[in-house]
Amino acid sequence: MSLDLHIRFRPDQGERMEEEKRVKRRIVLVPVPAQGHVTPIMQLGKALHSKGFSITVVQTQYNRVTSSKDFSDFHFLTIPGSLTESDLKNLGPLQFLMKLNQICEATFKQCLGQLLKEQGDHDEVVCVVYDEYMHFSKAAAIEFQIPSVVFSTTSATAFLCRSVLAKVNAEKFLIDMKDVEMQDKLFPGLHPLRYKDLPTSAFGPIESMLRVYSETVNTGTASAVIINSASCLESLSLARLQQELQVPVYPIGPLHIAASAPSSLLEEDRSCIEWLNMQKPRSVIYISLGSLALMETKDALEMAWGLSNSNQPFLWVIRPGSIPPSEWTESLPEEFSKLVSERGYIVKWAPQMEVLRHPAVGGFWSHCGWNSTLESIGEGVPMICRPFTGDQKVNARYLESTWRNGVQMEGELEKEAVERAVKRLLVDEVGAEMRKSVVDLKEKLEASVKSGGSSCSSLDNFVNSLKTKNFMQQ
Ligand code: UDX
Repeated sequence: MSLDLHIRFRPDQGERMEEEKRVKRRIVLVPVPAQGHVTPIMQLGKALHSKGFSITVVQTQYNRVTSSKDFSDFHFLTIPGSLTESDLKNLGPLQFLMKLNQICEATFKQCLGQLLKEQGDHDEVVCVVYDEYMHFSKAAAIEFQIPSVVFSTTSATAFLCRSVLAKVNAEKFLIDMKDVEMQDKLFPGLHPLRYKDLPTSAFGPIESMLRVYSETVNTGTASAVIINSASCLESLSLARLQQELQVPVYPIGPLHIAASAPSSLLEEDRSCIEWLNMQKPRSVIYISLGSLALMETKDALEMAWGLSNSNQPFLWVIRPGSIPPSEWTESLPEEFSKLVSERGYIVKWAPQMEVLRHPAVGGFWSHCGWNSTLESIGEGVPMICRPFTGDQKVNARYLESTWRNGVQMEGELEKEAVERAVKRLLVDEVGAEMRKSVVDLKEKLEASVKSGGSSCSSLDNFVNSLKTKNFMQQ
């Protein structure tokens, strides 16, 4: 494929500016079909579009973003024959990802081949940016000699952890993880993480998890890694990641502040905003466990009674099917429904960003997915951390012990502990201190995506690197 026009023709400055206006270069994005991955990659698409690139999103059949007014300039393609929702139910997330990577390798090649055939002279595909979990994309990029870039939607610390885990001996690791005494010990080289904070998966056997992790950290022939993080959050981990990888690492987050891209895969129930409008400032605890986490019925009951005893208003997102085997809230007792009508509000899915931004919200009970973590810090809301799986445990540890704007709920969930945690966050002095520290961090995050800030410069550096001969030849 041809190199950038600057290199080929060496035009003078006037001609060059004219050329730049005419040449629209295309970036192909490959998201994982899950909310926590779709959200940041669509934000990345918006950020790159604002820098003058055309965007094509190549999606699998399941969990597709539809072309709405927010993405009217984007081009969407579907990989034929990829997996469906029932495959996800039957296989579980880990096996689903493994199978998706197997079957999409060939079909993605066809998709990309077709796209390249149809591209115009002034709309060349300049690179493929794929989610780290969609590593099947590499093969097509190699075949068509298009540079590829890995997009990491988790923290740099979580990336490092996966990289460490990819090298452990599975058998020994399993024994260590079953040793109760080991759980509270610091994991060597990953301070402040303990064994129990490592991103092990609740979704399948350790062997599958290690296999998936080793694929995600193998950047292979990629020319760069883009990561939705910022140096004010984890400068040491970012520096170490840069040392470990052979290619440039660009921390350009938090993308939700840099570029808004509404891409909810579920319908948002906006009635909760009207309910929030009726509550006192900073009085409400918002509870949401993201798009995948599940809750045992006994935990849901403890949670319900703890919330009830705390006497604080609450907004609780309960996704259908997230308290199995109930379809929705059937497992919660009758009396609780009565209490909800007086002091709480339950929805199936909320407009989370708007909720966190609402003045009535004083705290966030979260599973600590990386997006929720960034969004909560970005709105200056302190958190109660109850991680469920994977990187959420890493984020929860950082929230509590590094950034000091979260408190972890560890061990069995009991109503007394729920009540105490909610009061601590919303009523006590401790909560006020956490709010102060989260507001400090919020300001740093905002500064990092503004002109001159580290993430803003990093995005510019990435964009500039796309124009260099080196990048194109990698
Ligand atoms: C998953 C992993 O759990 C997470 O740790 C990883 O970093 C990304 O993939 P998920 O569990 O869905 O993501 O959590 P999270 O990263 O927090 O993403 C959830 C997204 O859904 C957030 O952007 C949040 O704003 C949105 N959301 C959640 C809503 O819009 N409404 C809701 O009611 C709940």
